[in-house]
Amino acid sequence: MAGEGSGRLRSFLRETLRPTDEKTDLRSLLLASLRATGYGLVGAGFGILALYSIPIMLLVGVLALLGVGRPLLGPTMRWVRILSDLERRRLRRLGHVLDSPYAIPGTSEETETGTTFREIATDPAARRDLSWLLLHGTWGLIIGALLFQMPYTSVHDVTYPLWWYFVPDSEQSLLNGLLAAQTPSGALLGCATGIAVFALWLLFGPKLLDLQARPGVNLLGPDPDADLSERVARLTATRAAALDAHAIELRRIERALHDGAQNRIVGVAVLIGAARREITRNPERADEILGRAQDTTEDALAELRAVVRSILPPVLEDRGLTGALSALASDCPVPCKVTVDVPVRCPASVEATAYFVVAESLTNVAKHSRATKAEIEVRRKGNTLLVAVTDDGRGGAELDAGSGLAGIVRRVEALDGGATVHSPVGGPTEIRVELPCGS
Ligand SMILES: Nc1ncnc2c1ncn2[C@@H]1O[C@H](COP(=O)(O)OP(=O)(O)O)[C@@H](O)[C@H]1O
Ligand SMILES: [Mg+2]
Repeated sequence: MAGEGSGRLRSFLRETLRPTDEKTDLRSLLLASLRATGYGLVGAGFGILALYSIPIMLLVGVLALLGVGRPLLGPTMRWVRILSDLERRRLRRLGHVLDSPYAIPGTSEETETGTTFREIATDPAARRDLSWLLLHGTWGLIIGALLFQMPYTSVHDVTYPLWWYFVPDSEQSLLNGLLAAQTPSGALLGCATGIAVFALWLLFGPKLLDLQARPGVNLLGPDPDADLSERVARLTATRAAALDAHAIELRRIERALHDGAQNRIVGVAVLIGAARREITRNPERADEILGRAQDTTEDALAELRAVVRSILPPVLEDRGLTGALSALASDCPVPCKVTVDVPVRCPASVEATAYFVVAESLTNVAKHSRATKAEIEVRRKGNTLLVAVTDDGRGGAELDAGSGLAGIVRRVEALDGGATVHSPVGGPTEIRVELPCGS
C-alpha cells in the first residue's frame, strides 16, 4: 500500500513538475517574453489602425444613416475585413487554430463583404469583426503598449542612477514618470524598480500577449451558433472515418493474432501431442519434439509482443514521444535527425498517431526513397502538434499508390487533423501532419 501511494505521489510530482521545470529556466522565459513583446508590438500596430478606424466607422455610419454615406459602407467593411484578416494571420502564427468565418465551405473562396446596413447587420461574422475592432483598438492597443513599455522601463530605471543627474528636472522620474526621483538616493531606487519591472515582464509577458489575443480568438473565428450545422456535418464525417479506422485496426489485429500467434500455438499443441505419444516409445525423439515445441512457443510470444507493440507502443508510455521517436530513428537504416519540442505531453491518441505517422514515414524512407538522410521534426504550436518527416531521396510518393500513406491520412483525419504529402519527382519528400490536441 505504502509503495503504491509513494509511486502515485512520485508520478504526480513528475507530472506537475515536468512542464514547469522546462519552462522556468531563465533563457526560455526570456525568449518567451521577447517573442511575446514582438507579437504584442505587431498587435499594437494593428491596434493603432483599429483605433483610427473607430471614428471613421462612426462617421461613415452616421453619414449612411443620413443617406449620403451609403457608397462608403462597402469600402469601410472591406477595410475592416483586411484588418481582421491581418489579426487572424497573427493569431494563427501564435498557434491559435482559427478558421475564417467568411470561408465558403468546399472552396477556397470567401463571401463578399456587405454593402448595406441590412447585409452588415445580418452577417454575424461582420458584426463580430466590428466588435473585435472596438476591443482591439482599445484593450489590445493598451496591452501591446504595456508589453513594449515594460522592457523599456526596466532598462530606463536600472540605468537611471548613471545619467539622472544630466537630464532636466522634469525628466527625473522612474516607472515611466510615475515616481519622481531627483535625489541620489531616489535615483538608486531605479535599480530596484527596474529589476522589479523586468521580473514582471519576464513572468507575465506571454500572459499579457494571451490577454491581447483573447478578443480576436473569441470573435474572429466562425460564429459558434451559425457554424454549428457545418461543424456537425464535419464531425459526422470524421466520426465515420474514426470508426472506419478503428474497424480496420481491429481487423488488422485480428488477422495478426489469427495468422501469427494462434497458428503457432496450434502448432505447439500438435507437437506436444506428438511428444506425449513418443515419450515411452522413443524418449529421445520426444525430447527433440519438445524442443521444437519450445522454439515455436517462443516465436508465438515474439509475435504476441509485436502485436501488442503495434496497438499502443509501450515505448511511448515509458519514454514519451521524444524517446519513442528517437528509438524509431535509431532503428532506421537512413541517418535520421530528430527534433522534438513538446513541452507538455499530448493526449495518448495524439501521441500514438504521431508515432505511427513517423513509423510509417520512416519505413517508406527506408523502403522507397534512396535517401542519404532524413529528418523528423515534432513541435507543439499552441493547441496543435505539428509533425514533419522529410528525406532527401528521389521523391514521387503518392497517396493512393499503397496503403501506408493513405493510412496516415485516415488516422490523422480521424483526430480532426490534416496531413499533406509534398513529394515532387526527384525529391525531396516531406510529410506534414497537424494534430489538434484538445485544450
Ligand atoms: N519517402 C518516399 N520517397 C519516395 N517514394 C515514396 C516515399 N514514400 C512513399 N513513396 C512512394 O509512394 C508509394 C505509396 O507509399 P505507401 O502508401 O506507404 O505504400 P507502400 O509503402 O505500402 O508501398 C510507395 O509505393 C512509393 O512508391
Ligand atoms: Mg509504406
